[in-house]
Amino acid sequence: MRKIIFPQAHWPQFAGGLKKYDIHLKAINSNGRKPVAIWLGIGAGMLIIQIVLGGITRLTGSGLSITQWGPILGALPPLNDAAWKRSFELYQHIAQFKKVNSFFTLADYKSIFFWEWMHREWARLMGIVFFLPFVIFLFRRMISKELIKPLALLFILGALQGVVGWIMVKTGLNDTDTSVSPISLATHFIFALLLLSYVFWLFLSLTVKQRRTQISDTARRLNILLLALLFIQLVYGAFMAGTHAALYAPTWPDINGSFLPATGNGRLIHNLFYAPLLIQFVHRCMAYIITITLIVWYFSMRKVKRGSLLHRRRLLPLMIVLLQATLGIAALLNSNTPHAIYFSILHQFVGIILLLSLVGTLFLGRVTPGDRKIVKAQRARAIPSPGSNGTNLANKGRRVNVE
Ligand code: HEM
Repeated sequence: MRKIIFPQAHWPQFAGGLKKYDIHLKAINSNGRKPVAIWLGIGAGMLIIQIVLGGITRLTGSGLSITQWGPILGALPPLNDAAWKRSFELYQHIAQFKKVNSFFTLADYKSIFFWEWMHREWARLMGIVFFLPFVIFLFRRMISKELIKPLALLFILGALQGVVGWIMVKTGLNDTDTSVSPISLATHFIFALLLLSYVFWLFLSLTVKQRRTQISDTARRLNILLLALLFIQLVYGAFMAGTHAALYAPTWPDINGSFLPATGNGRLIHNLFYAPLLIQFVHRCMAYIITITLIVWYFSMRKVKRGSLLHRRRLLPLMIVLLQATLGIAALLNSNTPHAIYFSILHQFVGIILLLSLVGTLFLGRVTPGDRKIVKAQRARAIPSPGSNGTNLANKGRRVNVE
């Protein structure tokens, strides 16, 4: 790891470069910055609610209640008895009704219909909340060309998420399966989290003004590693939910009396996706690995400037992961009780917040194109960096670590 110290004397001439290469600073004029930031903030909040609604839909067993895909016409629920009857009849054709819910009355059906409809309705509302202000901002020239591509990507990801959601529902609309495929559930969940992280990142880039004054490569790399581990963990969280793995071993710290469960018959690769006990084992181990890595990351913060936003927020992810593990254990131990749903919803929600906290710390510790520009310019001008003696008395300025 090399450290380069920016001398105060040279700083002003680099500052221009910094501004020039921070696309978001350039992309939004001062009138547009605040409304666009608020818009993205509301969008991120709505996405969080949508993911939680998705969790409730799954936990109440509602996901297959609407058997038709009607992005626009489906906005209205059945409005009269005949329409309700028709909708219920369609549901009666699928395996979930025949094998699991054959005792359902129309009233039972209406109760599961509600959550799936709400989940889809919220998606429609999000489409409007994202799209209409976007058009207005464009029309009023509050967004310049540079931000159009990232926002277009956001719309593509949003539309894709709707399609992935429908593909997932299709995997459960047949004569044999009583629920959707765990892999498609995980894909739908992960896509939603990627979309949320992306909106959150754009939001931060418009709202967090503080310039980093010292960053640490070690902390940044650990942050990236943590996000990669969390990605696997979230996929396994969805597998836990999709295979109802908790019910197979509602015990902790052991798994039905042993620490290494039988991995099931068949090939390991297959079992890693489908065997509930192995899935649970991986989900637990990943939680412990993430917690330990977060403790190491916390200590790596010693290299980050005291008082900086990143340094001040360093305890947050660790606190969240401890809460998350506690909720996971509570969800597991209560999995065959009526309270299970509350722990599961909270566990999913805190998982989202953990992800956002790590996206946030990565944002605060990032190296911007502007920083790279500074480093390049410094090299070109051969400003002395601290050599083996590590000191440069004239340089009491910015410090950036570069790869
Ligand atoms: C880093 C820590 C953890 C994270 C980020 C995490 C994340 C998640 C997520 C996001 C889900 C829900 C996925 C979905 O709804 O589609 C989930 C499910 C689950 N997790 Fe965790 N988890 C963690 C630790 C734990 C621990 C330590 C346990 C227990 C030992 C646990 C037990 C469960 C159980 C039982 C479920 C299924 C709940 C249900 O059916 O909805 N988790 N996890």
